[in-house]
Amino acid sequence: MKNKFNLITSKEWLPFQKSWFRFDNDERLYRDNIRFFTKADELNQPIAYYGPSYDLFEKIAKENSLSSIALENLDTDAQFVMIDLRGQISLSTSLAEYSELRDKILSLLENNFNRVLNRRFIAIFMPNIQNGPHYYAYAWDMAEYVSQIYSLKDDKIACYDGQTAPVNNNEYFTPSNSFIYCLYFRKDEFSKGKRNGEKYHFLTSHNTQIKHPVYSEIPGWFILKPQPRNKKEILHPAKYPEDLVKMYIRTFTKEGDNVFDPMSGTGSTELGALQIGRNGYGAELSDFFADIANGRCNDFINNGQSDKKNSFLILNKDARLITQKDFPPIDYMVTSPPYWNMLNMKGAENQAKRIEKGLMTNYSDAPDDLGNIENYWAFINSLKEIYLNIASLMKPGGYMTIVVKNIKKKGTNYPYAWDLAHVLQEKLILLPENFWCQDDIPIAPFGYGNTWVSNTFHQYCLNFQIPDE
Ligand SMILES: C[S@@+](CC[C@H](N)C(=O)[O-])C[C@H]1O[C@@H](n2cnc3c(N)ncnc32)[C@H](O)[C@@H]1O
Repeated sequence: MKNKFNLITSKEWLPFQKSWFRFDNDERLYRDNIRFFTKADELNQPIAYYGPSYDLFEKIAKENSLSSIALENLDTDAQFVMIDLRGQISLSTSLAEYSELRDKILSLLENNFNRVLNRRFIAIFMPNIQNGPHYYAYAWDMAEYVSQIYSLKDDKIACYDGQTAPVNNNEYFTPSNSFIYCLYFRKDEFSKGKRNGEKYHFLTSHNTQIKHPVYSEIPGWFILKPQPRNKKEILHPAKYPEDLVKMYIRTFTKEGDNVFDPMSGTGSTELGALQIGRNGYGAELSDFFADIANGRCNDFINNGQSDKKNSFLILNKDARLITQKDFPPIDYMVTSPPYWNMLNMKGAENQAKRIEKGLMTNYSDAPDDLGNIENYWAFINSLKEIYLNIASLMKPGGYMTIVVKNIKKKGTNYPYAWDLAHVLQEKLILLPENFWCQDDIPIAPFGYGNTWVSNTFHQYCLNFQIPDE
């Protein structure tokens, strides 16, 4: 296939498509992006830059036979725009300072809208920040605003080695200073070119202040190699590893506590809880999976795998109908909801493989299965209702962890993780997120030769705290 998008071969194209990568140095970050998003031969248009390292940008542009220009001075069509805000957003950047910077960037992007070539990209590098007891999702906020002007296409995570410990203080949750976001936007037929003034509340919400500090040793990002799944577990299309839940359960609970999952699937949460001396409770809509979940916990307790007699119960019940009397008091919730209706997209890569093997591709065809809700916001709001109901059954100061990922569907990017965090933040306190980075899935050459579509291999582990009344 002729590569119309850039001048690199599939050998260079494929690794760039992985949605997380280990950060080496600025030069490598800039070079990889410039080489991927530009084309020197036919286009002969400049690439534009905003950030602290123009000299580096210019040097790499030259190496690739491209001309470069500062975004502020752009006066002709650009084929790529790179905005590096890492130096301007630090652990002490206040909301007011960030808002000023955001306005500056948005004005630059609006003013230059007509000078970005159609179907070409804008990359923004920036972090979310924990400033003392406040956690500010600056990157998600910026993404929401920029996506009013250009089309949001992707988010990629640059993972920093050796920076997994808190740097500002030990009193609060682990600051997410071990990764930054690379946000990608495209100018295309869906881009509006102007801010629409809609308010997004990531930052204006009252719930940015962490009230009951917890020290978490969970790094900002981590790779887990899930155990191969057994015959029963593989029947479920989207199981998460017990090792993942155990890491969170250890951080947020003590022995004997009650761990809860309103969408238990194969019971990984409850089994993980039992394996480390906690009780595991939950609900699951499908009777088929609820049986598997109870069976796995039962085997663990009754077949001599445990010397402790912890309790478990997975009710075959709609998570929307959970009430206080269903379970003992809940100390911590960890869960992974359906990824909207993505399992009904039969053409998706892993779906085809499951069909081939005769395995179930979705959870059920039941109308009350959240994975069958067609409308995206109706889906998000159902989850909101479920989690806020569970939060109301828990003690103030308690924690919740939700494992999700952003979704790309038919060319549109739905920032599911950010949207869910956003709606829950109306009532819950958002804590720094961690990433479960998947390293065991082959990369598929999506969009090769035409455009940029990443392979999403980073799962968001969203953490929340329940505020005082
Ligand atoms: C991503 S899976 C969870 C997998 C689980 N963490 C595991 O490791 O096996 C989401 C689960 O939500 C369940 N589900 C969908 N709608 C539900 C509802 N209304 N109430 C309860 N569970 C529901 C699905 O049947 C599915 O098992």
